[in-house]
Amino acid sequence: MQSIHFRPWHSQDATAFATAVNDSLDTLLPWMVWAHPYYSVEEAEDWIRYTQIVREKGEADELAITDAHGELLGGCGIRYPADRLCLPAIGYWVKTRAQRQGIATRAVHYLAEKGFSFPHVQTIEILAAADNLASRQVAHRAGAEFIDTRYGLIILDKGPVNTAIYHLKRPT
Ligand SMILES: CC(C)(COP(=O)(O)OP(=O)(O)OC[C@H]1O[C@@H](n2cnc3c(N)ncnc32)[C@H](O)[C@@H]1OP(=O)(O)O)[C@@H](O)C(=O)NCCC(=O)NCCS
Repeated sequence: MQSIHFRPWHSQDATAFATAVNDSLDTLLPWMVWAHPYYSVEEAEDWIRYTQIVREKGEADELAITDAHGELLGGCGIRYPADRLCLPAIGYWVKTRAQRQGIATRAVHYLAEKGFSFPHVQTIEILAAADNLASRQVAHRAGAEFIDTRYGLIILDKGPVNTAIYHLKRPT
């Protein structure tokens, strides 16, 4: 198993981020509304600045996934809603060339550990478009329980879609 690392985004990641997105449009476009052809370095810079702001506010922990040499493999994050009655949620993407090596599943394990380090967090949510079988399989492989399908929790370019809800429970 290759060694992978998780770390906050740096402004220097912008070019690699844009390249990874443009190289992965085949798998990102159907599911990530922010992905589009000719994704620019400036857009990546905006996103990275945003991740730094939400980190400072304690609203989210958005991380770059890299290999042992520092090459960018993808991104993942956990978002903490201001209302503690709402569930923290995990998201992830992996560049096409690095997919199907267990990277997203490991990202979920890593982020879940972070989330459950907060004593009030009992459950973490993963939402996936019902047709996004790869993402649903990641949730399943990471040990999340399928809860239900609801219409409209995820809105894609084509509009609201049926959304599969998965819950990770605090380990006992
Ligand atoms: C979903 C995504 C993050 C999976 O990343 P990954 O690193 O390839 O996932 P993993 O290697 O951890 O795979 C976990 C499971 O999903 C399965 N899987 C991965 N890609 C798959 C695909 N394209 N089709 C079917 N199953 C797939 C794997 O086979 C694995 O199951 P297994 O243990 O039974 O083999 C990646 O495909 C991606 O970035 N897609 C586009 C963005 C996206 O959909 N993000 C999630 C939004 S909710």
